[in-house]
Amino acid sequence: MAPPPPMEKGLTLLQECRDFVHSLKIRGKYALFLAFVVIVFVFIEKENKIVSRVSEKLRQIPQFVADANSTDPALPLLENASLFSLSELDSTFSQLQSYLHNFSLQLGMEPAMKAQGQEAAAEKSPKQAGAGKRRHVLLMATTRTGSSFVGEFFNQQGNIFYLFEPLWHIEHTASFQQGGASSAGSVLLYRDVLKHLLLCDLYVLEPFINPPPKDHSTQFLFRRGSSRSLCEDPVCTPFVKKVFEKYHCRNRRCGPLNVTLAAEACRRKDHMALKAVRIRQLEFLQPLAEDPRLDLRVIQLVRDPRAVLASRIVAFAGKYESWKKWLAEGKDQLSEDEVQRLRGNCESIRLSAELGLQQPAWLRGRYMLVRYEDVARRPLQKAREMYGFAGIPLTPQVEDWIQKNTQAAGDSSNIYSTHKNSSEQFEKWRFNIPFKLAQVVQAACEPAMRLFGYKLARDAASLTNRSVSLLEERGTFRVM
Ligand SMILES: *[C@@H]1O[C@H](CO)[C@@H](O)[C@H](O)[C@H]1NC(C)=O
Ligand SMILES: *[C@@H]1O[C@H](CO)[C@@H](O)[C@H](O)[C@H]1NC(C)=O
Ligand SMILES: *[C@@H]1O[C@H](CO)[C@@H](O)[C@H](O)[C@H]1NC(C)=O
Ligand SMILES: *[C@@H]1O[C@H](CO)[C@@H](O)[C@H](O)[C@H]1NC(C)=O
Ligand SMILES: *[C@@H]1O[C@H](CO)[C@@H](O)[C@H](O)[C@H]1NC(C)=O
Ligand SMILES: *[C@@H]1O[C@H](CO)[C@@H](O)[C@H](O)[C@H]1NC(C)=O
Repeated sequence: MAPPPPMEKGLTLLQECRDFVHSLKIRGKYALFLAFVVIVFVFIEKENKIVSRVSEKLRQIPQFVADANSTDPALPLLENASLFSLSELDSTFSQLQSYLHNFSLQLGMEPAMKAQGQEAAAEKSPKQAGAGKRRHVLLMATTRTGSSFVGEFFNQQGNIFYLFEPLWHIEHTASFQQGGASSAGSVLLYRDVLKHLLLCDLYVLEPFINPPPKDHSTQFLFRRGSSRSLCEDPVCTPFVKKVFEKYHCRNRRCGPLNVTLAAEACRRKDHMALKAVRIRQLEFLQPLAEDPRLDLRVIQLVRDPRAVLASRIVAFAGKYESWKKWLAEGKDQLSEDEVQRLRGNCESIRLSAELGLQQPAWLRGRYMLVRYEDVARRPLQKAREMYGFAGIPLTPQVEDWIQKNTQAAGDSSNIYSTHKNSSEQFEKWRFNIPFKLAQVVQAACEPAMRLFGYKLARDAASLTNRSVSLLEERGTFRVM
């Protein structure tokens, strides 16, 4: 029998998609979640006209109504996300994914397939086997915790392929509604993309880059210049002609990024490291931690939430408008929503850290908690600890970089600057915030602060008194 023409295939696809969703017999918000996931995947396959017809149909399914407005660039914490319901969503998600994957194979699209084949081949090559075990390090943080600085510890080492916030593209392209099922969907999507990236399948990002890459080539990869590996030969292609490069390398012009060359470079390096401020719940990483190809190491970076909030108010002024007004005018009541959001952020960080510290079997030996304050005060020592944990030998290259970049005098106007006298900087926030801001944070984040050893300031005088330490010395952390 001859294969059906494309249009017929498309209609069959639509029908089968529907039947599949029905057959899962999932009620209420999970059905809506599923519809959402289908739309996301259809979106990924947007190149194909047939599939976009499907997407039109699926759009008619009622959407989950947003139940929270988030100001933070990171994701909101799932409401009452029990592990049971998450694993249910998880298996649904992978079934659906495998289903759509089968379809795209039939339809002859699936650009990433070749790359995956190459990756499998690379893993079996003798060079890899002889050169020691390949590690995959995920630096898991939230914004304004010093993650760019700590990320540099991995970026600066020549045998590590480092990516800086690749998930930024997902957040800025796929439209997720805040809260509820939709935010569960986004977390699963982030994790999936993360896995592909760690395995050097960089093509997975392409559908999320805007404007879309042409011939696997783009000048719009978010902050390319923050990844050394993307700016050195041979990924830095000889500069041919001047084109607009939204994100370019720091010290040289490389033209558009050839994603194929980048993926090849990723596979050639001994290790892979990636920084992400958009992964909020450690439990979602379980499938990655259990994937033997990854041998994953997760470093969770935390920072005093008083300092984080103070820094966010400056860095994300627009999104923290109501905080600024509250600080400036003094009379307006801070909205309960803002406080709730702050509490939610602190709690999601605390819950992840507690899970990590409890060392469930799947995470044993794969999780490390690091306080930014300790890195700032003893950068070299902490770098050695992190590399030791990751099982990667630290090179003099990184040690030199740390020496040069943690003792520079003076301040920098760049809010993402990593070039500061770090042991002088880490407490600066204490003199820049009014006590009432510290109070609000302390009230909302006390459980997290207790876990991480950030002491509460009793009054305005002790906030600004240098002889009052707000940091407990902690070698290890214990869940209480
Ligand atoms: C979200 O914020 C927008 C604008 O600030 C507002 O119009 C909308 O009602 C809010 N939605 C929810 C669900 O709170
Ligand atoms: C969370 O879910 C559990 C089990 O489904 C339920 O008993 C509980 O009331 C829920 N809590 C909230 C705050 O919705
Ligand atoms: C996808 O194809 C594979 C291999 O042909 C098959 O084992 C699997 O069951 C299919 N998945 C779905 C959801 O149809
Ligand atoms: C990107 O690099 C690959 C591998 O060297 C090459 O085959 C391809 O032509 C390059 N693409 C562009 C657009 O230059
Ligand atoms: C950095 O700050 C520390 C603590 O204030 C100070 O002891 C040190 O001299 C400073 N280093 C430089 C290079 O300014
Ligand atoms: C700062 O704290 C120290 C130790 O608690 C105290 O002895 C000192 O009087 C305080 N200084 C001021 C200016 O409050």
